[in-house]
Amino acid sequence: MTESAISSCRAFVFDAYGTLFDANSAIKRCQENLGDDAEKLSELWRRKQLEYTWLRSLMGDFSDFWNVTGDALDYAMAAIGKDDPVLRSRLMETYLSLDTFPEVAQSLQTLKENGHKLAILSNGARHMLISAAKSSGILSLFDEILCVDDIRTYKPHPSVYQLATDKFELEAGDISFQSSNGWDIAGAGHFGFKTAWINRSALPVDHLPHKADLTLNGLDELPPLTRKA
Ligand code: LAC
Repeated sequence: MTESAISSCRAFVFDAYGTLFDANSAIKRCQENLGDDAEKLSELWRRKQLEYTWLRSLMGDFSDFWNVTGDALDYAMAAIGKDDPVLRSRLMETYLSLDTFPEVAQSLQTLKENGHKLAILSNGARHMLISAAKSSGILSLFDEILCVDDIRTYKPHPSVYQLATDKFELEAGDISFQSSNGWDIAGAGHFGFKTAWINRSALPVDHLPHKADLTLNGLDELPPLTRKA
């Protein structure tokens, strides 16, 4: 995608976990309880969380992201042989106030000052997203918080991305979608969004249809590619 394509977008929509919020920050805050198991727990927790969303969507048996996140944590803690209800409760609570990545707040602020419409579009349950955005001081920057609670299915189902075109009354091609998750970018591209993959970890490209229109190292690279609304 040329820069002109990004600059023509009239709304900028963001995935939450891994894109705005550092999902690993929950584990970091409980590092003293986890020691060498921290990294394995973090990776397994996130992997099972996503797996459960995809499997529940395919089965048509929805449970919200708070429940799925708890189920995934239970699996991951059992996998490392950790039976600690107090630690589990602490990890779940920290998921409501995750750190944002360092460049997030300023990048959103600049887009807002340039007159753009901003939204979160996430699998997250509404209370989770509002809590994390409020605790990190970015809630007021968003025009909309869009979540899957009301449609009861998860990304990458097209109906999730349609939440943004419906709410903003825009064509898909007028919306720029940002995510760190390659599979989410594929789903958003399939739906018709312009897509910017925030590849902070220099991961390989997923072998899925709809490659990202743009690949950025961080959200700070986004505002210079846009123009004032
Ligand atoms: C979300 C997950 C997929 O926020 O990161 O929807």
